[in-house]
Amino acid sequence: MTLKDGYHAFDFADLSPREAYKVMIGTIVPRPIAWVTTISPDGVVNAAPYSFFNCLSADPPILALGVENKPDRGFKDTAYNIRMTECFTVNIVDRVNVEAMAVTAAGFEPEVDELAMAGLTAVPGDHVKCPRIAEAPVAFECERYLGISVSSAREIILGRIVRAHIREDVIDPESYYSDHEKLDALGRMGGNGYAGTMDYFDLPTPSAEDILKNLAVRTASGGA
Ligand SMILES: Cc1cc2nc3c(=O)[nH]c(=O)nc-3n(C[C@H](O)[C@H](O)[C@H](O)COP(=O)(O)O)c2cc1C
Repeated sequence: MTLKDGYHAFDFADLSPREAYKVMIGTIVPRPIAWVTTISPDGVVNAAPYSFFNCLSADPPILALGVENKPDRGFKDTAYNIRMTECFTVNIVDRVNVEAMAVTAAGFEPEVDELAMAGLTAVPGDHVKCPRIAEAPVAFECERYLGISVSSAREIILGRIVRAHIREDVIDPESYYSDHEKLDALGRMGGNGYAGTMDYFDLPTPSAEDILKNLAVRTASGGA
């Protein structure tokens, strides 16, 4: 690590996986949280939060999860169930459900129904075998699209959204606009931190033409 011109420079080749993880999770914030529900081949319902998560494509509609394997390189229940059933559902975490979500992050044995542990209700999927969480404001039913073993320690799982369930007060079905205040989604920060989404503002992207015009005006007036 070097300090130059006010910046610490980290070469990732010199960092341990844990150090790299800490650098990334503390600075790539806030991360959306996928509250993933799956079902085991024996029919046990599983739920767990994953903040190595985002939407990567709308056409086709693709979501990505980053799942760390266990210290013995075995799959977490989520990765195992997705592999065995080819499906998963991403539920969105809102503030009301954050404590229930934390319960589902605990390291229960595979035979434990984590939704039951958290006092949540499983609703059968319409297009997929796994359930969604009745209490969540949004749920995306996904079919496994692609799995990438980036190393023996990490799986990246891509899912293709086949159906979305969005609480009626959250989305306008005519315009497809969602109300972020009604949604009240949470993001994940570093450590055990979370962030809300109420600190919201609009900033339209300026046109290149307007930027150039403003620069020309500033230059002509001698300003910076
Ligand atoms: C908010 C939050 C985000 C998390 N994000 C991830 C993640 O992106 N990848 C991961 O492997 N584990 C993540 N975890 C840890 C898993 O949720 C935890 O290991 C869980 O027990 C896995 O459950 P499963 O074996 O039922 O899949 C996260 C935990 C919390 C509380």
